Amino acid sequence: MSLRQMRSPTIQVIVARTDEELCAWGLHCFVETLQQRPDAVISLTTGRTTAGLYRTVREWHARGQTNLSPARFVSSEEYVGIGADDPISLFGWLRHEVLDPLGVSGYSAIRMSGNAADLGNEWRRFDATIEQMGGVDLVIQSIGANGHFGFNEPGVTRDAPSRVVTLAPSTVRSNAAYWPPDIQVPTRGLTMGVDATLRARHILLLAAGATKAEAIARAVQGPIDEDAPCSLLRLAPRLTIIADEAAAARLDGAGNWHT
Ligand code: PGA
Repeated sequence: MSLRQMRSPTIQVIVARTDEELCAWGLHCFVETLQQRPDAVISLTTGRTTAGLYRTVREWHARGQTNLSPARFVSSEEYVGIGADDPISLFGWLRHEVLDPLGVSGYSAIRMSGNAADLGNEWRRFDATIEQMGGVDLVIQSIGANGHFGFNEPGVTRDAPSRVVTLAPSTVRSNAAYWPPDIQVPTRGLTMGVDATLRARHILLLAAGATKAEAIARAVQGPIDEDAPCSLLRLAPRLTIIADEAAAARLDGAGNWHT
């Protein structure tokens, strides 16, 4: 595969020419994690970008007999007020797109319930569970047009725990596009925090489409800045960014890129 790449000791940026290439590199990270540690903890997010990766993971799983039962999965966001069986539950989407097809019981997933009676207790329990498991091996995230990851919106601090957040209006509008027009998308969510994310041993950040180009340029080449949440991911022990050509269009390649 011929790719444009940028590397530092802890950060790798890969520009994929096609969706298939983007998904193939994402799959590579997923499989590598499980090869190194069959009982790895892998955190999953939702969205259009990751949907392609999950399709590729399903196809990979269907081709082989890999037993994923030792692996442990984390669902990193949920809407406030939404239970797991609600049609717009983000965990429900992950169960349908990833966990059920991989033969992983949803009951074993680490997640925050959006309709928990005590939301503060819910995110504290989530962070404590992740810590007890020794942290996350691979966090899979995708960048928002405003630079967010998960529901960590611009202005978030680098030590932010998992918590309840008010979504940026642009995030609510973007998320509304997933659902029929009569569905009211919640304006608050529970999200895995920046702190737990940065403690992961490897973060995989995906970006597809021209609407992500400015956010990716800031994440990769701008200052590490709380107004560009994905730039904070550069503080992690290992970060892999896979962007398609449109999302990478504003990266300044001078001297940094090789084929
Ligand atoms: P998308 O969502 O993959 O659907 O573009 C990413 C995000 O906005 O978090």
